[in-house]
Amino acid sequence: MDDSIIQGFSKYTKQQRVNALIRKYGFEENLATWLSSFEASDETTRKIIDDLSENPISSFLFPFSISPNFVVNGRNLFFPMVSEESSVVAALANAAGFWARHGGFHAEVLGTEKTGQVHFCWKGSPRKLQSLFPEIKEKLLAESVFLTAKMESRGGGIIRIELKSLPHILPDYFQLDAGFETCDAMGANFINSCLEQFGKSLQGYFITSQNVSEEERECEIIMAILSNYTPESRVSAWVECPVADILDGKSEEECRQFTEKFEQAIRISQADVSRAVTHNKGIFNGIDALALATGNDFRAIEACGHAFAARNGQYAGLTDVQVQDGKFRFSIELALAVGVVGGVTSVHPLAKLAMQILDNPSASKLMMYLAVAGLASNFGAVKALVSDGIQQGHMKMHLSNILNQLNVPEERRAEIQHYFQDKTVSFSAVEEYWRSFGLRVSGYK
Ligand code: MEV
Repeated sequence: MDDSIIQGFSKYTKQQRVNALIRKYGFEENLATWLSSFEASDETTRKIIDDLSENPISSFLFPFSISPNFVVNGRNLFFPMVSEESSVVAALANAAGFWARHGGFHAEVLGTEKTGQVHFCWKGSPRKLQSLFPEIKEKLLAESVFLTAKMESRGGGIIRIELKSLPHILPDYFQLDAGFETCDAMGANFINSCLEQFGKSLQGYFITSQNVSEEERECEIIMAILSNYTPESRVSAWVECPVADILDGKSEEECRQFTEKFEQAIRISQADVSRAVTHNKGIFNGIDALALATGNDFRAIEACGHAFAARNGQYAGLTDVQVQDGKFRFSIELALAVGVVGGVTSVHPLAKLAMQILDNPSASKLMMYLAVAGLASNFGAVKALVSDGIQQGHMKMHLSNILNQLNVPEERRAEIQHYFQDKTVSFSAVEEYWRSFGLRVSGYK
């Protein structure tokens, strides 16, 4: 393998990048043709997708799916989903269908404040800085008007700026901790521009102020950046129904036993970190799939959600359940921040379609839909776990993936599926069974 360091790879054409790949790994000469078969056929779309990242050689395809029957606050919607995990959409569609027949999902936004900090060091007394802060704050606000005017005309802007002295983290370390309302935008550029401007204004203040000594004029800005932790941008969602209705076609006693086990599972997720992480992973199966489909930053959403899950000092499951007076109530509360204008949402053709499928929601509505997707996903997972276990459903989908990997023709699949109905599915078991037909496995190369 050629291990030489490549200079200027980003300036290569797509063909040159593929050639570099062929040279380095010895792939076949037709690689470029094969890679281009995954790309959009029209040039405009291809360019939009390529421009989302540096150094593209192709497009990486995932299924774009629909989960129907999501009734949220009385509206019946299709949820667009992008997930590579075979059972996710099936579980969501199942849960949505069940709750559509049992009162639907309810959701409420509890706040929309986004945050960011200027991290800086200043060699002066925290008390003195606190006393100067009212005039500093006035300067920060006045000198950022050129950035905030447009956002203010849309109903957003800077909500608060606070000074925090944090010498236990670093000597002479302070923060400007700011809150922002960014309306329907994710607002990352707006927030980061404001914060960088705050940093400049702060330094300007120390240089020019009559109220600081010569030794106090220096202020080192370490960094100015938004925080993906937005505990004041929160949403809750819930479902409820009589305990006796929780399992279609089952007796009252079976329903009661089910809710009892369901509640035990939730209590475990709230107290045991090993279970909590997997529990929340199942929640994010739904949230990420909807976030990705709508072009939102699912890493930011996950990071925030996991930090929120640890807000009481111990990482815990994000959902809660109450079984009381014959009623089952299942809920989620979550910190999350999203945007519906700008960014990938506004340029990716499928993200644009996803937004249309959701009837072009405001950011607040999308927050509610994401919470609902998380709740539905968790309901499906916990329901399966405390009844049949997840392998039954999972393996059916897993088998279908393996059949795809082995290029098994459509007409032979039913027979294989039937054979594996009561057997453990693994790649090697399916491959062996398939080979027993004397057929060869094929793929690229
Ligand atoms: C699998 O992707 C997700 C689950 O493990 C979630 C859970 O255990 O709650 C099924």
